[in-house]
Amino acid sequence: MSHQTVIVLDFGGQYNQLIARRVRECGVYCEVKPYTTSMDDIRAMNPIGIIFTGGPNSVYDPKSPQANPEIFRLGVPILGICYGCQLLAHNLGGRVVAATDDSAREYGKTETYFNTDCKLFQGLPAQGITWMSHGDYMEKVPEGFSLVAHSDACPNVAICDEARGFYGVQYHPEVNHTQHGTDMIRNFLYEVCGARGDWTMGDYKETAIRTIREKVGSGKVLLALSGGVDSSVAAALVAEAVGNQLTCVFVDHGLMRLNEGDEVEAAFKKWDINFVRANAQDLFLSKLAGVTDPERKRKIIGEEFIRVFEAEAKKIGQVDYLVQGTIYPDVIESGAGDAAVIKSHHNVGGLPDYVDFKEIIEPLRMLFKDEVRALGRELGLPEYLVMRQPFPGPGLAIRCLGEVTPEKLETLRQADFIFRDEVAKAHLEGTMSQYFAVLTNMRSVGVMGDGRTYDYTLALRSVTTSDFMTADWTRIPYDVLDRVSVRIVNEVPHINRIVYDITSKPPATIEWE
Ligand code: XMP
Repeated sequence: MSHQTVIVLDFGGQYNQLIARRVRECGVYCEVKPYTTSMDDIRAMNPIGIIFTGGPNSVYDPKSPQANPEIFRLGVPILGICYGCQLLAHNLGGRVVAATDDSAREYGKTETYFNTDCKLFQGLPAQGITWMSHGDYMEKVPEGFSLVAHSDACPNVAICDEARGFYGVQYHPEVNHTQHGTDMIRNFLYEVCGARGDWTMGDYKETAIRTIREKVGSGKVLLALSGGVDSSVAAALVAEAVGNQLTCVFVDHGLMRLNEGDEVEAAFKKWDINFVRANAQDLFLSKLAGVTDPERKRKIIGEEFIRVFEAEAKKIGQVDYLVQGTIYPDVIESGAGDAAVIKSHHNVGGLPDYVDFKEIIEPLRMLFKDEVRALGRELGLPEYLVMRQPFPGPGLAIRCLGEVTPEKLETLRQADFIFRDEVAKAHLEGTMSQYFAVLTNMRSVGVMGDGRTYDYTLALRSVTTSDFMTADWTRIPYDVLDRVSVRIVNEVPHINRIVYDITSKPPATIEWE
């Protein structure tokens, strides 16, 4: 796929992915690469521009991550952000020192004044708020550079050498707190680097379809469809490319939410693909009968899933390609190292060992989650599939504490549906990253009508997070919680008490098992 590329060179800053997102939002493809990337690799990518990220170090510390000086001779424009700006200064003859008095050390929102003759600030207001976070400052600006922005405390908030296309800003244009920050990045891309804006979802879709067609030829392609966003979009894309050479196996383990299996099936009916719904509900339930240990449940589901998938795969004979819905964050966040196993995650990603095929196709490898969603819409997938919140591979089995039975699953499904329905009615989805009901294994005494009840306690869980590694519990308005509680107790048999989980992760995890 040929499109103009910008490299975001990672010096350890916390907003690196955000910079990449901003560049792509401006219609330019970009990749985050470690600062140790070799010059040959950088040249091979033929970038139209390079962005140095921020980072926690001080450029004058000999142990700090440094730029290869050759990078300044490539003839490629560079934008340095925060630490990246100081790297430019440090390497090109300026001097960076630790701020000794508090006034030069800037954190947070800072009133800033810009020289709008500089290409970076062209067409933007001459004054605005920027988001600062630096303890070092440029005492001496390198030769050939001009000062193009200042704050009340700091004379050199931004520097540039327009002849060489080098720009540096002490603040973070990528964060929302910086007014017009994205416009400044856009100016760098379009006014300095000569970007054409060739990264659009429409173009991406067309190119991806062409590439898949060329690669696959007349071969057979297999995909494990979970109904999650990534595998659904990957399936839709490959379906558009090679139609009935594709077989999508959707293993319905009977642990899906209300109507979910039917919704997935309906969404894929429109493509002329071999959509196989392996109805294995009874098999999974029988294997889970009497099992209460969370890890045992996860293991059983993972193993059975592979068996069912394998049996379906065998029916189509030799498979040439296996499609996986790997997305960009999966690629860069790989390798958990020696981290302790908290839960054995069940992912379709474990399949290659079990199915014989020639090659893997990962058509979403270059996309962020929101880009995957945009592509899904381009391909005509319904909104409820495109916007689905994460749903764990083992499904409701790990939200139905203790033994999993058809009756308990049915109770949970109904309660979970009411929770989601009320959240949608209150338009709260945007504030909740993942929300669901958990059927605890605890029963308590209640009173309904004039009679005593002894029924299950249902827990509501909602978290707000960007990476799902840590998460805060969502402050859902009380009136919404109240409506959910009243409806569930009235409409769902066998639940007489509702609790709301107010633990963050850590110490809790998002799922209960
Ligand atoms: P925890 O409970 O570990 O969950 O805090 C973090 C995120 O991962 C999801 N999750 C899974 N996803 N297979 C998956 O594909 C799994 O086995 C699995 N277990 C948990 C969970 O829903 C949350 O988004």
